[in-house]
Amino acid sequence: RAVAAATQPLLGFQGVPASVADTVVVPPGYKAEVLIAWGDALFADAPAFGQDNDGKAQARQFGDNNDGMSFFPLGRDRALLAVNNEYTNYEYLFAHGGKQLTAADVAKAQAAHGVSLVELMQAGGKWQANPKGVLNRRITANTPMLLSGPAAGHALLKTEADPQGRSVLGTFNNCSNGQTPWGTYLTCEENFNGYFGSEGKPALDSRAARYGLAAEDAGFGWHQFDERFDLAKHPQEPNRFGWVVEIDPKDPASIPKKRTALGRFKHENAAFTINTDGHAVVYLGDDERGEHIYRFVSKHKVAPGNDAANRDLLDEGTLYVARFDAKQGELKGTGQWLPLVHGLHGLTKENGFADQGEVLIFAREAATRLGATTMDRPEWVAVHPHRAEVYCTLTNNKNRGIKDNQPLDGANPRAENPYGQIIRWRPAGGDHRSDSFEWDLFLLAGNPQVNKEGLMAGSANINPDNMFNSPDGIGFDEAGRLWIQTDGDYSNEKKFAGMGNNQMLCADPVSGEVRRFLTGPIACEITGLTFSPDWRTLFVGVQHPGEELAPSHFPDGGQHIPRSAVLRITRDDGGIIGA
Ligand code: FEO
Ligand code: CA
Ligand code: CA
Ligand code: CA
Repeated sequence: RAVAAATQPLLGFQGVPASVADTVVVPPGYKAEVLIAWGDALFADAPAFGQDNDGKAQARQFGDNNDGMSFFPLGRDRALLAVNNEYTNYEYLFAHGGKQLTAADVAKAQAAHGVSLVELMQAGGKWQANPKGVLNRRITANTPMLLSGPAAGHALLKTEADPQGRSVLGTFNNCSNGQTPWGTYLTCEENFNGYFGSEGKPALDSRAARYGLAAEDAGFGWHQFDERFDLAKHPQEPNRFGWVVEIDPKDPASIPKKRTALGRFKHENAAFTINTDGHAVVYLGDDERGEHIYRFVSKHKVAPGNDAANRDLLDEGTLYVARFDAKQGELKGTGQWLPLVHGLHGLTKENGFADQGEVLIFAREAATRLGATTMDRPEWVAVHPHRAEVYCTLTNNKNRGIKDNQPLDGANPRAENPYGQIIRWRPAGGDHRSDSFEWDLFLLAGNPQVNKEGLMAGSANINPDNMFNSPDGIGFDEAGRLWIQTDGDYSNEKKFAGMGNNQMLCADPVSGEVRRFLTGPIACEITGLTFSPDWRTLFVGVQHPGEELAPSHFPDGGQHIPRSAVLRITRDDGGIIGA
């Protein structure tokens, strides 16, 4: 039996072809069904979904554009799913498509953001959403939360509404996530800058520019109706976003905490692991062209089984940023973790960092000073469940080799990188606290049909049957399968011909084999994954189907407007997903 198990291939499903259809396709013997979608009621007093739902209704419904998520067991037949609601598409949120924005519209948009907590129950042998769950909760762009850790109370975090610099309203652009062993959810604030703007003349320095803050917002229009988002009036409000937020999902009255020790940048996810010596280690990507990969190491050890003792563990520790070194022409090498500690390596008052709080608030600038490697947009990080090995998706980077500060290097070897790659590293001695590591590229995505040779064809494990672009979400299952989700160009033409809609793949980290597992509907991104504890149900997110008015009607069909949704994926024979 043991021998048979050892020789069992890791990937046991039949790969699916690329697709441009407005549907979800999974392998033969698998079923993908909608668990919950944007606008579904989470409380007895919430109306059913309708495009005319107002902000009050939206705050009692499942949020929009679900992204990262985690499964919290509450018993054999009961669980809680925590799901990020990253942003919203005005072309579908409003009948007017966002063209005649009102204060009420902005309130609805703010309520569509944040996090949705929804109870699940086993019914008919499947996990179902429970709209009557007592732990159901909506966290929005207006939910009260606290700043904690080294930057809490810092002068740079104080505003007129919060002279103490400790109390913030809300979280938004929550991209991906993390989960701690003490039962909390980590939600990561990504492109927060796009919600701020001004009709006036805000004073924006180079530090604000490094985070993309500008008088013109990303089109959400919040500053026109909610003064808090007006940069000319409240220039420090953006300093209170760009953090990792810790939520206790099992206490609906709990106040979420922004953990400033993990630094301020455009956080993608928070890949948590306990090191062999008991310290918590969290790997973090900063998703922007030419930004960096970070590591947080807790000062104290995790107290196993003592959730209360671990509750504020993420408030004390050291944040590091990665430098990836390689010999000329090699796509592998060694690397170093560089500490973002005030007073060390030029992070001093003379250089503009008055204290540790300022180092964390302007972590990007501190990382540059330390000589961190500029990466091709770090998205999710995943830690192998059984080996000291860490993977990070570098999704794409049109600026590589074009902008001065983003030269070609071993880790980011392609100019104008349209396809993305997955980098991995092994900490020295298998110790996640070690400051040195070895790294290589697990794969280079590419198009071997369009590019017959060279790096744009992709690495050896990419072929016409599994090709894709822009890896983004990744995660491991218990058996060590690496699941890969894409957020890429779905034009299916030119450089991207033959790749079809965004998709999900599964890889064997040892053999390098990559096989396509799922294809999504039109103009969606596939993002967010979590498993039930028996590994027999996989939850996957379909985000922004039909974005920019592409012709999708997923999942309701007919002439319905498309909705982001969480899928429940099971096997007809009840087996383990992927095996
Ligand atoms: Fe929200 Fe970097 O993806
Ligand atoms: Ca997204
Ligand atoms: Ca992403
Ligand atoms: Ca992405």
